[in-house]
Order: sequence, then C-alpha cells, then structure tokens
Amino acid sequence: MRRTPPSHDVPSTARARVAASILDADLGNLAHAVRRAEREGADRIHLDVMDGHFVPNLTFGAKTIKALRKRTRLPFDAHLMISNPGRHMADFLDAGCDSVTIHAEIEEDIEPTLRQIRAAGRAAGLCVKPKTPLTALEPYRELIDIVMVMTVEPGFGGQAFMADVAKAKLLQAREYLAHKLHGGEIHVDGGINRETAELVGGLGVDILVVGSALWQKDRNMAREIRLIRALADEGYQFGLNAGVPPIPRDKMVTFATLRRPQARTLREEVEAAGIPVLLFRSREDPAEMDDEIRRWDLLIPASAETAAKARFDKRRAALAKGKAPDVPTSTAARA
Ligand code: DX5
Ligand code: ZN
Repeated sequence: MRRTPPSHDVPSTARARVAASILDADLGNLAHAVRRAEREGADRIHLDVMDGHFVPNLTFGAKTIKALRKRTRLPFDAHLMISNPGRHMADFLDAGCDSVTIHAEIEEDIEPTLRQIRAAGRAAGLCVKPKTPLTALEPYRELIDIVMVMTVEPGFGGQAFMADVAKAKLLQAREYLAHKLHGGEIHVDGGINRETAELVGGLGVDILVVGSALWQKDRNMAREIRLIRALADEGYQFGLNAGVPPIPRDKMVTFATLRRPQARTLREEVEAAGIPVLLFRSREDPAEMDDEIRRWDLLIPASAETAAKARFDKRRAALAKGKAPDVPTSTAARA
C-alpha cells in the first residue's frame, strides 16, 4: 500500500478541517494513534475525556493528554464530557490543549471556566448535546471561541449521525460567534464520515470531528480524511456559497499598502479587533528603497477580509492619504 507523505508542512487549501478523535483508536497505543493521524493528514487531534458520570463511559484525563502532547505537532482539541471541568481545568491547560470545550449541560458554573481557558490563551468551547437547544449558549456569547454541536448522544464512538440535529443547529450556531471577526469555529461531533460530510459542510461547519470512520481495519486513513474534507468543501461551495469555491484558511490577502508608521498604526488597530496581521515590504516599491520611505503591505487572512473592510475601510483610506497616524476616537476614549 502506498504511503502518503507527511502533510503537516503542506498548507491545506481546504476550508473544512478534520479533527481526528482517538476514541476508537487502539487505546493501548495512543502514541501510535496520534502519530498516525498526523502522518495521514489529520488537521487536529480531538480528545474525548469522559468521567463515567456526565456520560456513561470512562476514557482518559489530563495526564494522558500531557503524555501525548510530546508525540505530535498537531493542535489538541479537548472535548470534556465531565461534570466538573472547573476542578481539573488547570491540569488540562497545563497538558497543552490548544482548545478546551466543556458542556453547556453541566451544573457547575460555566463562566469562570471559560474565562480561565481564555486567560491561558487557548480557545474556549461550549458543546451542546442533541437535545440541548442552542439558546443554552446565550449567557456565554462573548466568552466562546468554539461552538461544538453533538450529532450523537455523547459517550461512544460509532453511533448513527442525527441529520435533523445538524440541520436544526449547525447554521444557527454561527450566530453565537458573531463577536469574533476571525477565528471562531463551529465543530460538529458524532457520526461524521463520507456519507455525512457533504451535508455538514453545506451547513458551514469549520471542524469535522471524525472518530470511527478513520480507524476501521484496512481503511486508507489518509484518503478518508481527504475525502471528508473535500466533500465538506463541496457541500459548502454548492450549499452556502452560491457555487463560489471556499476560501482556504491559510490564504492571506493584502489589505493595505502604507508607509511604515501608518502601516504599524493600522496593524495595531486591526489586531486589536482580533484579526492577525503580517507586515511585509511592498513589492510595489523598488527593493533598494529606504525602509522609512517605502510602503509596506498589510496581509490579513482572506477569510477575515470582509469583516476587516466593513470595519477599517475608512481608516485605511485616511492613513493612505499619508496623514500622520493619530489615535482613533474609540481607542482614545479607552486610553
Ligand atoms: C462521542 C465523542 C466523539 C466520538 C465520535 O461522545 O464525543 O468525539 O469519538 O466518534 P464517531 O465519529 O464514531 O461518531
Ligand atoms: Zn468528542
């Protein structure tokens, strides 16, 4: 069988991303499982933590995640199906989780835990079980980076996908990320495979959690991952995006070309709004030109271009006129 080359250094042109859940991998050799998922082209590792209380099953905890952290460069998404995430949060953060998602149905206080995750610089997620309405997320709107929608009852891999739940929730879930100009994510978890990927892609999902579909004997995992990503992108293009191909997540576009002081000012303002910016010497000016006089390109993720335009178009035009950068009124008010 042909091996696929390691894909972590090749920027994916896909919009949709696959997070490999290791729940159905060989739990006796998880190090192998995460290395394999990386080699076969998964974008993330999805770690299902269960406490035998919130769900009728037990898996692993922060210590196992910490041990696995050394085995792969892929980002870790922890999905905590536990009643008391607050009690263990410091350990999960210390273990190196890049995002931590907790459940909206738990009885303990959710807000401090979300704040704790974000204070550690990680993405904070809230997950809803199939019967939980999205309105359960309402009080936490401004505190979440991820909405995870379960399309099976949590607890076990290999269950049948609930299409009704997907249709009722996935598109609407985006509304709870309206505060994020860049980087908010909808995850779908449960029953995702080549049969269901197109549907959820068509509902705008960013991250497809895939468990049992990847770990079947004699299955080419790399092909399965590529197929699921491609189907999700097709669904997006012909479902939501009027036939226009999706914007790859890694694509950057030039948002403005400005002299250095103005470029730095705009960068600061755009980054303060949550959109990452790269500054490069513009190719529009000759290579030997002095850095102080030459213009610089501000690059932003293409996926955030519309939001950036809506917010900074006027500011960009004012700075381009070469006015000395002054502090915009909103910042001045805060200072
Ligand atoms: C279920 C877990 C899922 C599970 C998905 O409680 O949250 O992440 O691994 O497995 P599949 O893809 O088999 O439904
Ligand atoms: Zn999960």
